[in-house]
Amino acid sequence: MKQIFYRILALLVGLWIPACSSAPEKPELEEQRIFRITHADSAGRMVSEIWTAPKLESLGTREISSEYFDQAMHTSDSRFSAISFSKLVKEFALKGGEDAVLLNCFDDYQGILSLDDVYRYDLRLATKIKLMSQNYKPDWLNPLLILVPDGKRPPFQERFMTANIRELKFVRLNDYYAPLRKIAGNSPEAQEGLEIFKNNCLFCHSLKGRGGNKGVRLIKAYDLSNGAEKKKFLADFKKTHHKDNPDKQDVEQFVTDENLDRIMELLSKAGR
Ligand code: HEC
Repeated sequence: MKQIFYRILALLVGLWIPACSSAPEKPELEEQRIFRITHADSAGRMVSEIWTAPKLESLGTREISSEYFDQAMHTSDSRFSAISFSKLVKEFALKGGEDAVLLNCFDDYQGILSLDDVYRYDLRLATKIKLMSQNYKPDWLNPLLILVPDGKRPPFQERFMTANIRELKFVRLNDYYAPLRKIAGNSPEAQEGLEIFKNNCLFCHSLKGRGGNKGVRLIKAYDLSNGAEKKKFLADFKKTHHKDNPDKQDVEQFVTDENLDRIMELLSKAGR
């Protein structure tokens, strides 16, 4: 009986407070979003936990800038509230040899980062993004966002720019890349192409069931054993991914023409 009384009291108080306070603040979109963290439990079963921005922020946020982000996005003075990614990782007992985090995003982007990179570059997860007002913000630029903090210098790759994350999932890198390993065969050019593709393209252009589907499946769209199709691939790439493209997907900055040749070498093998 006592319990019921307290529950009703709690309910009344709960209803009462918003009515008394003047103009209750609407929570920001970021705060309403829920994120999933998927990991193996002690019995080895995969479980998904629900996390919100305030729960993540309870690990301790810092206001930071990121030259790496500003360089890649052609912005300046962007500011972020961010938590330490390695601190978040330590919340989970990873006993199944998990050595990477898969980043599934709201827009069908699929990123992946090794835990080595998370520690080595002290990567952060931004829960709030503040661009200077004159900068136009593309649709996909929402938390959670991977951030390279100032002072750290990972290679300049699409990999370290994952945004719009809805799920963090602990996986083994070897398992994740297994379906891709055979494609390159023993061609050194194709093997190089595979590394470049994994670091810059797979996130949006899936291959052998891995990666995101924000862009088309390239081996379906092009027959790269054919010289004319190679030319078209290059022209289409430059058209879609150049610096000033409307969706701010400047992928061109991360790859050279030689890199693109290697990628086409890989994709021509994968398409066979
Ligand atoms: C952030 C996501 C993203 C990344 C990363 C990305 N792409 Fe794309 N790509 C797209 C989208 C979206 C399109 C638009 C057309 C479509 O649906 O494929 C596109 C289009 C293309 C096209 C033209 C396809 C067409 O049908 O017109 C090519 C070629 C291409 N990408 C190659 C690449 C290569 C090579 C890489 C890596 C070096 C890469 N992309 C990285 C998202 C991405």
